[in-house]
Amino acid sequence: MTAASKRVVVTRRIFPELVADLKREFDVVDNEKDIGWNPSELAAALKDADGALITAGERVDDTLLEQCERLKIVANVAVGYNNIDVDACTRHGVLATNTPDVLNEATADHAWALLLAAARRVGESERWLRTGQWQRWAFEMFPGAEISGTTLGVLGLGRIGRAIARRASGFAMKVIYHNRSRLAPDDEGGARYVDFETLLRESDHLVLVLPYSAAVHHIIGAAQLSQMKPSATLVNIARGGVVDDSALVEALRTRQIAAAGLDVFENEPKLNPDLLKLDNIVLTPHIASSTRATRTAMALLAIANVRAALAGERPPSLLNPDALAQRR
Ligand code: GLV
Repeated sequence: MTAASKRVVVTRRIFPELVADLKREFDVVDNEKDIGWNPSELAAALKDADGALITAGERVDDTLLEQCERLKIVANVAVGYNNIDVDACTRHGVLATNTPDVLNEATADHAWALLLAAARRVGESERWLRTGQWQRWAFEMFPGAEISGTTLGVLGLGRIGRAIARRASGFAMKVIYHNRSRLAPDDEGGARYVDFETLLRESDHLVLVLPYSAAVHHIIGAAQLSQMKPSATLVNIARGGVVDDSALVEALRTRQIAAAGLDVFENEPKLNPDLLKLDNIVLTPHIASSTRATRTAMALLAIANVRAALAGERPPSLLNPDALAQRR
């Protein structure tokens, strides 16, 4: 079978020049309308596909894979891959890949954008200004939380977490972190390992950047929020479900913590409407990696993964090496 006769499905719209390149190599089916497919539409689209570029919104599991007998690779255009049942892929001999590293810096920048905006009340004061409420300057206008010289907490000091922590040195901050297990000192980059409770209690600003799995569902809920400082900022760039959004609404409403910056939500994009009623929160629509250059790099890495898999080679960011032995 020639490469041109191999079918690659691109489940959501990506930059047109990337699709044009892909079309030179493969028989490409894309989703020009960019409407999220439900599971049966996804299965119908992938039924005759050899490869697929998918996003975090599409679920890949046994039910889907049973219907897609030609499928050899699912290439997530995302670093987080909780939408893919990797064990199911391995059982079906389907390679699964993600896009690590290329998004570290852009995503770390966005975590800081949310942290600075939430702690310094940028969204709240801008809304106030835009609605014509600024009649006179006042000394006590919008006092925010100090950032320089304070303590940054990172829950999940991985590749992105380290990029976030590195930026903290410009703010002369101390960095503490918690992971399931402590990193080797060379990988800590000067951050101090603490237990989870200490992280909650001592962080002036806490950034969540851990991978989602059922084990960390609602790892930040009412009990954890109540241990944080009343002046603290919480930033979630990990995944919806890591935070109990209803508990967070309550903590922000009652000023148990000062502010939050969220890029990810439970039940995206239909977020908890009570989040929208709060002033002490900055919300972005799951765009932490969204710079033109980074999104291009992510798509190119996903395409490189598909190209390698369909040429019988090992994809550069393979998640399930065990599938190589029984690949379709
Ligand atoms: C985005 O959320 C990603 O996982 O890349």
